[in-house]
Amino acid sequence: MTRHFLNLTDAGGNAVAAMLNDAIDRKAARKGLPKGKADADAPLAGHVLAMVFEKNSTRTRVSFDVAMRQLGGSAVILDAGTTQLGRGETIADTARVLSRMADAIMLRTDDHAKVEELARYASVPVINGLTDLSHPCQIMADLLTVIEHGKALPGLEVAWLGDGNNVLNSIVEAAGLMKFNVRIGVPEGYESDAAFIEAAKLGGANVHVVRDAAEAARGADVVVTDTWISMGQAHAEAKLAAMEPYQVNQALMAHAKADALFLHCLPAHRGEEVTDAVIDGPCSVVWDEAENRIHAQKSVLRWVFGQL
Ligand code: CP
Ligand code: NVA
Repeated sequence: MTRHFLNLTDAGGNAVAAMLNDAIDRKAARKGLPKGKADADAPLAGHVLAMVFEKNSTRTRVSFDVAMRQLGGSAVILDAGTTQLGRGETIADTARVLSRMADAIMLRTDDHAKVEELARYASVPVINGLTDLSHPCQIMADLLTVIEHGKALPGLEVAWLGDGNNVLNSIVEAAGLMKFNVRIGVPEGYESDAAFIEAAKLGGANVHVVRDAAEAARGADVVVTDTWISMGQAHAEAKLAAMEPYQVNQALMAHAKADALFLHCLPAHRGEEVTDAVIDGPCSVVWDEAENRIHAQKSVLRWVFGQL
């Protein structure tokens, strides 16, 4: 059966753990090599990944391209607006065609149903490069970063501050699979997807929604935030005002553990969801997190091709 990576649950906890271990090993094995040089074993030699972007991207497009080169393969990057998809060719037909030309497809889009439809009609693996619902590749990099900085996932206390968005949904999903806990500080009306929270609780994670930002951050091992206005959302003054008490600043970080890490998927809106002092400060591991998009996605790619 074709393996798709639309959400973390498609892989499950054991496969996520295997991918993280693989990423740690592969990252160590290629230390010091130029970024475009292939790994010694080149496990995806001859493979090509087609990437389709219906939304902007810096990290996702570069990290998947470099990941494919390091695995010995290559990537083709398509901006949907310049493709026939952008002129109304159906997702199903696009899936059929790209399946004949590429060995895997990555899609960044708005409606999650589109990535599901692509997977339904593709005969090659499909990877979710972000939808309005979730961002599983980002969370693979986040988990890798946390482990790399010496924190075990089981029992980890994660605090999320701000908007209940796609990135948070994938963090909550990961909590259920990897057995960590999430305290979500979010204003009323901006909560994340209830189904992800219920599934995580069934998986054994403690997930709490709180209104007080300090309460969310208290005793946290990891503090995470993201933009208050995601791609495709209208810039709303009312939303920005509601988010203000959830800004991650030094006063807020003081409620977390002394050795807490600060994560942000980036791009950051400095002075909104996070201050310069925090993102440029000693707790911040955001540049490792960004680099880890490459290493984590190499293992996701190996997993969809049945190598893990
Ligand atoms: N974090 C992330 O997905 O970044 P890009 O939007 O730049 O791809
Ligand atoms: N929540 C953000 C993440 C960007 C990587 C967005 O969807 O725009």
